Amino acid sequence: MTIKLTLLIFFGLASATLSAVLQNDEGTGNCTNTGCHNNLIEQKVVHSPIEDGCEYCHEKTGKVHPGSEGNGFTLVKTPPELCEVCHESKASEKTVHEPVAAGECLECHSPHSSPNQFLLKESSTVKLCEDCHDSDMWNNKTKHQPVSDGACLKCHNPHQSNFPQLLVFKLPELCFNCHEKEKNEHNLDNLHPPFEDNCLDCHAVHGSENSNLLTAKLPDICFSCHEELQNSLLQKKTVHQAIREGKLCLNCHNQHASDNSNLLKTEGQKLCFQCHGKTNPLEPDKSVNIEKKVSEKFVHEPIVSDGCSDCHATHASDYTALLMNQFPAGNYTVGEVDSFALCFDCHDSDLLEKQQTDDATNFRNGKTNLHYLHVKREKGRNCIDCHDVHGAPNIHLIGDKVRFGHWEMPIGYTTNETGGSCLPGCHEEKKYKR
Ligand code: HEC
Ligand code: HEC
Ligand code: HEC
Ligand code: HEC
Ligand code: HEC
Ligand code: HEC
Ligand code: HEC
Ligand code: HEC
Ligand code: HEC
Ligand code: HEC
Ligand code: HEC
Ligand code: HEC
Ligand code: HEC
Repeated sequence: MTIKLTLLIFFGLASATLSAVLQNDEGTGNCTNTGCHNNLIEQKVVHSPIEDGCEYCHEKTGKVHPGSEGNGFTLVKTPPELCEVCHESKASEKTVHEPVAAGECLECHSPHSSPNQFLLKESSTVKLCEDCHDSDMWNNKTKHQPVSDGACLKCHNPHQSNFPQLLVFKLPELCFNCHEKEKNEHNLDNLHPPFEDNCLDCHAVHGSENSNLLTAKLPDICFSCHEELQNSLLQKKTVHQAIREGKLCLNCHNQHASDNSNLLKTEGQKLCFQCHGKTNPLEPDKSVNIEKKVSEKFVHEPIVSDGCSDCHATHASDYTALLMNQFPAGNYTVGEVDSFALCFDCHDSDLLEKQQTDDATNFRNGKTNLHYLHVKREKGRNCIDCHDVHGAPNIHLIGDKVRFGHWEMPIGYTTNETGGSCLPGCHEEKKYKR
């Protein structure tokens, strides 16, 4: 939208100049019919006052007109005062374009006629701006569409504005004029602070070397403000592959706003199941279907109550499998409490430490602690050889199978009131009775 400059033609209010003009009987004809100055009025768009006479703007000097017997002419006033006789002053708003403030109307407009709309001196807006501005400012590899369309004036007023940078609206409303989707996002519950009114923290409005007009590539653009997270990713041993692949941070976060906390695309386990569910779009062959595991009959209590976050860090971790604390990878490990610190954050370590016990664990034969027997040794079994920490078809989170690399062995677990039995590939059927 252009701020309309009210046109004021002072026909009634006879200023000295205009009454002089009205008394003039020579008209335009003498100057143009002679063929001397008809070039001035030949162009498609003719400045209206010219149709009534040259004397709106020129007055006789009394001196001799060059090349003729007639009068010499001078301007009634010099621009911008000349223009302001009929056009409202251009200098009333907060920001005035420098050439306008300097009264240099004729840098952009022709006073007589022009092939271009609004008597402009150039056929396109961009050419006009290029006369004074370095086109590097908008000649990027990827241009914002209104810029490639040459529509500078969709955003800038050529004369003046109440907003910085001669903008026709303030930010972010300017953007919302054309970007309905982002306008709607602006109404969501959680706004990313820079999205509130600082689109230009992330977007270069004219054009950019990066896609989506970003001022830097992902994830660097995020790190420009989230330096702490960047440092922590650099320091941790394992970074979640989800941060390095696909849409990077935007695999999980919305960049602008969200109905969920932490700008998440989806909350809780559902977020994780987008990739650790039926098929992981990033790693369809490699992935373990955790969603299937947590739909088993028996699900580990912390998953039921809190989802994944009790045990897994989302971005990065110093432990295997992005865990929050120590837990061994593989089937065997040194069977100390410290190796399983994650589990013993919540469970009593007596279940592992007491060789003989009446109550530290139900996994015992008489008083003999079978956790101790299997785990507490130089080459101890890992908990996951028997338990599936996410969910399992058998009570006590006992799995149907145990994984040895690519090979899976049945566990053959049964249970009863006083104990149970198993028939794994490791040994013949063994029973325990408390
Ligand atoms: C709306 C005001 C206005 C009207 C009406 C007008 N002129 Fe001008 N004219 C100007 C201005 C301003 C300049 C000075 C241009 C510059 O400095 O570049 C000018 C300059 C000129 C010049 C100097 C050469 C040039 O092209 O810059 C001539 C010749 C001229 N006018 C003739 C005419 C004739 C003939 C008419 C009537 C048919 C006319 N003008 C009507 C404003 C006007
Ligand atoms: C004597 C009165 C008068 C003076 C002086 C005058 N103008 Fe105008 N101007 C008009 C009128 C009348 C129109 C036509 C308005 C319309 O079509 O709505 C007009 C239209 C314009 C337009 C728009 C042309 C278009 O295509 O719509 C521009 C640009 C313009 N003038 C610039 C200037 C500049 C620059 C000066 C000073 C050098 C100036 N005018 C001096 C009366 C004047
Ligand atoms: C930097 C270039 C530039 C300068 C300097 C400039 N104009 Fe304009 N002007 C434009 C452009 C571009 C348009 C067309 C606006 C549009 O498309 O909405 C325009 C439109 C106009 C119009 C008609 C439309 C409207 O907004 O009413 C008038 C009248 C006008 N200018 C007068 C002036 C006067 C008087 C001056 C000096 C005080 C001046 N201009 C200085 C670029 C300029
Ligand atoms: C006659 C020379 C000239 C023309 C033509 C011109 N400008 Fe400017 N413009 C300037 C000057 C001088 C400045 C002030 C110094 C600077 O910021 O570069 C300026 C400043 C600006 C600014 C910054 C204003 C601010 O508040 O900091 C914008 C935006 C702008 N121009 C847009 C445009 C657009 C859009 C066009 C084309 C329609 C245009 N200019 C055509 C001379 C011009
Ligand atoms: C989609 C809206 C939009 C379009 C289209 C647009 N600009 Fe801008 N322009 C802006 C905004 C917003 C700024 C302020 C940038 C900033 O503060 O970093 C700006 C700033 C500028 C500046 C001042 C830069 C400075 O550093 O002072 C100039 C000059 C300018 N634009 C010229 C143009 C020209 C010429 C065109 C057409 C080729 C154009 N703009 C098209 C929105 C736009
Ligand atoms: C005059 C209309 C208009 C205005 C104002 C406007 N845009 Fe756009 N913008 C478009 C069009 C058209 C496209 C290309 C089609 C699309 O992707 O929606 C676009 C595309 C974009 C894109 C995507 C570019 C890509 O590579 O896909 C971004 C980002 C963008 N605009 C940001 C902004 C921001 C920020 C503002 C405000 C400073 C803004 N726009 C103001 C019309 C506009
Ligand atoms: C924190 C940085 C950031 C801020 C602030 C930001 N954006 Fe974006 N915006 C992005 C990123 C990153 C993308 C690319 C999304 C993608 O790759 O899917 C984007 C994409 C866009 C797109 C293209 C979306 C599409 O679906 O094609 C538009 C339009 C856009 N932003 C407008 C805005 C507007 C308007 C504002 C201010 C109200 C704004 N942005 C503020 C980071 C930001
Ligand atoms: C211009 C600075 C800036 C940029 C760039 C930026 N952010 Fe932010 N972001 C903030 C601020 C400020 C906060 C609020 C304070 C905080 O939590 O640090 C925030 C908060 C967040 C939050 C937490 C929101 C909540 O509800 O607590 C997430 C998630 C986030 N940003 C992700 C991103 C992503 C992803 C990117 C890259 C696309 C990004 N940020 C780029 C400034 C930025
Ligand atoms: C796998 C999904 C996922 C990816 C990928 C991801 N995040 Fe997050 N992010 C989360 C979740 C979930 C939270 C909520 C708190 C938590 O669990 O740590 C979060 C929280 C945040 C927070 C606010 C809390 C904090 O830790 O400061 C910021 C900022 C953040 N993320 C930025 C980013 C950035 C930047 C990237 C890309 C480098 C990114 N995230 C990639 C899932 C992700
Ligand atoms: C955009 C896809 C995506 C999302 C969303 C996602 N991940 Fe991942 N995640 C991966 C990929 C790819 C890997 C590496 C291959 C694999 O182990 O499946 C991975 C690996 C993991 C690993 C194993 C790391 C290792 O070093 O062995 C854990 C644990 C994990 N993700 C947990 C989560 C949790 C918890 C969430 C939800 C907060 C989540 N992921 C969301 C893609 C994703
Ligand atoms: C009680 C702690 C705990 C909770 C809660 C938990 N996990 Fe795990 N997760 C583990 C442990 C321990 C491992 C490593 C051993 C293994 O692979 O079974 C693991 C491994 C993983 C792996 C890597 C699997 C592989 O073999 O590559 C993924 C993916 C994973 N978890 C996703 C999730 C998701 C998604 C959730 C939430 C639904 C979740 N976890 C909840 C403890 C937990
Ligand atoms: C965040 C706390 C937490 C962590 C960490 C945790 N658990 Fe649990 N676990 C529980 C809760 C709560 C229950 C349900 C109450 C109970 O049986 O103690 C449970 C139940 C179990 C059960 C089923 C007991 C039964 O009799 O049905 C097994 C087996 C188990 N956890 C093994 C592990 C293993 C192995 C680890 C380490 C990888 C681990 N847990 C880590 C909280 C946790
Ligand atoms: C050789 C298989 C095996 C290994 C290895 C194993 N468990 Fe168990 N665990 C069992 C069986 C079987 C039960 C069920 C005992 C019962 O109630 O009959 C059990 C029960 C549990 C319980 C329920 C409380 C209790 O002690 O009765 C917890 C908690 C538990 N295990 C945690 C662990 C942790 C932590 C590890 C690794 C340090 C681990 N288990 C290693 C087989 C195993």
